[in-house]
Amino acid sequence: MGLSQLIKVAALLASACLTNASLQIVPGATWTSPNTHAHIQAHGAGVIEVDGTYYLIGEDKTNGSNFQHVNCYSSTDLVQWDYVGPLLSLQSSGDLGPNRVVERPKVIYNSKTKKYVLYMHIDSSSYGEAKVGVATGDSVCETYQYHGSWQPLGYQSRDIGLFQDDDGSAYLLTEDRANGLRIDSLTDDYLNVSASVYLFSDMEAPAMLKLNGYYFMFASHLTGWSANDNQYSYATSLSGPWSSWRTFATSGSNTYQSQTNYILPFPGNRTVMYMGDRWIASDLVASTYVWLPLTISGTTVSMQDYTSWAPNVRADSWSTAPSANNYYGVNAALSNGAVVVSCSGCYNNKAAGYIGGPSQGTATFSGITSSLSTLSTVQIVYRNGDSTARYANVTVNGVTQLIEFLPASSPGRSVINANLKAGSNNEIVIKTSDGTYGPDIGTLIVPQQ
Ligand SMILES: *[C@@H]1O[C@H](CO)[C@@H](O)[C@H](O)[C@H]1NC(C)=O
Ligand SMILES: *[C@@H]1O[C@H](CO)[C@@H](O)[C@H](O)[C@H]1NC(C)=O
Ligand SMILES: *[C@@H]1O[C@H](CO)[C@@H](O)[C@H](O)[C@H]1NC(C)=O
Ligand SMILES: *[C@@H]1O[C@H](CO)[C@@H](O)[C@H](O)[C@H]1NC(C)=O
Repeated sequence: MGLSQLIKVAALLASACLTNASLQIVPGATWTSPNTHAHIQAHGAGVIEVDGTYYLIGEDKTNGSNFQHVNCYSSTDLVQWDYVGPLLSLQSSGDLGPNRVVERPKVIYNSKTKKYVLYMHIDSSSYGEAKVGVATGDSVCETYQYHGSWQPLGYQSRDIGLFQDDDGSAYLLTEDRANGLRIDSLTDDYLNVSASVYLFSDMEAPAMLKLNGYYFMFASHLTGWSANDNQYSYATSLSGPWSSWRTFATSGSNTYQSQTNYILPFPGNRTVMYMGDRWIASDLVASTYVWLPLTISGTTVSMQDYTSWAPNVRADSWSTAPSANNYYGVNAALSNGAVVVSCSGCYNNKAAGYIGGPSQGTATFSGITSSLSTLSTVQIVYRNGDSTARYANVTVNGVTQLIEFLPASSPGRSVINANLKAGSNNEIVIKTSDGTYGPDIGTLIVPQQ
């Protein structure tokens, strides 16, 4: 082997260390942010990448549909999302005041004005105003200045998206209920709409991708918070002609129970990620995220469902989930009042219950194996029959994280990203110490790669 080959091998090994196939996206699960200790609140979100860091900007639904914040989280791997702060927050009156609707925030950067430009749907609680609002920021993930709302070109505007073309021109994608889904060009400063470029028939939840010279518009049908089979259309020019709409997920799956919110290409455009919301209309704060890799071949787009998968955004690739071992709550060491309880849909219809509570019931899973010492996504299959979230402290090899468990009357999943050690003596302890009860624990799914 020559020196240059050795260097290549070393580089490959180095990138293999950076890539972590044990870190996974688990669509539809509770995703706890490590610094809020709560389920990520970035619904109807968009993503913007700045210097290798990804910012997830979405709606905080902790007060249902009433505007609370436009939140910003950051990540370098698309799996672990730290809360950075709000871009906009509830004000005492006006567009951002009490009982207001602020939805589907999207940010793009204007290199001429050096401003980050945020668009969002602005409405009254009855959705009677149908306007778009705009705000600007000097940096991507700090407080933005709100500039106001209007009906673009005098038309209703409900669900929105933004698209920035290669030449720096940008477009507002806007649902005009009376007429259809519009592509409107933005002014050079991106602060207003200049012209209507194309009008589709009735669709909403728009998101656009440009790939290999084609524009792809993704959108959903109009079924409110309920999911439907979302579709895509493609064109070589934004003004059309656009192809007929085609389904990309399995027909009848309702896009795996989700609605498009954003389409994110990885840096080299080989991997493209679909981002959707799985809305829980009766409890919006508990809505989850369905993110899945798209397969795009020419103008054909398809998407399979995965319980989990591993993105590698730096390498512009992804892989299916690594093999995993299951560890069952019924086989854990239960102490301090934790006992086996019935759990419909769990392994053997049983789970470890009475976790926490006054006696601090504890489930200890010992002898957990991993073939590598690596940061890993462990899935916790649980039940929480309450109408509000439960929490538990999950300690992996001595390091504790407070994890949220959304209401789940049939088994749900929550994830923890934690360091496993190579070998068979990893230990995971689940308990609470604040007197509340944690969820019933059915299974821990631990990657083995
Ligand atoms: C929830 O929303 C209502 C209406 O916007 C507002 O009056 C109330 O203060 C909000 N609650 C919190 C905790 O912010
Ligand atoms: C946008 O432009 C229209 C005219 O094209 C104008 O009436 C409107 O006030 C502008 N809106 C804002 C927010 O500047
Ligand atoms: C990915 O596609 C976009 C849209 O055409 C383009 O702006 C960008 O340069 C492409 N990136 C690479 C690495 O080819
Ligand atoms: C988790 O642990 C922290 C630190 O000991 C404690 O303050 C908190 O109350 C615990 N939360 C639960 C739900 O047990």
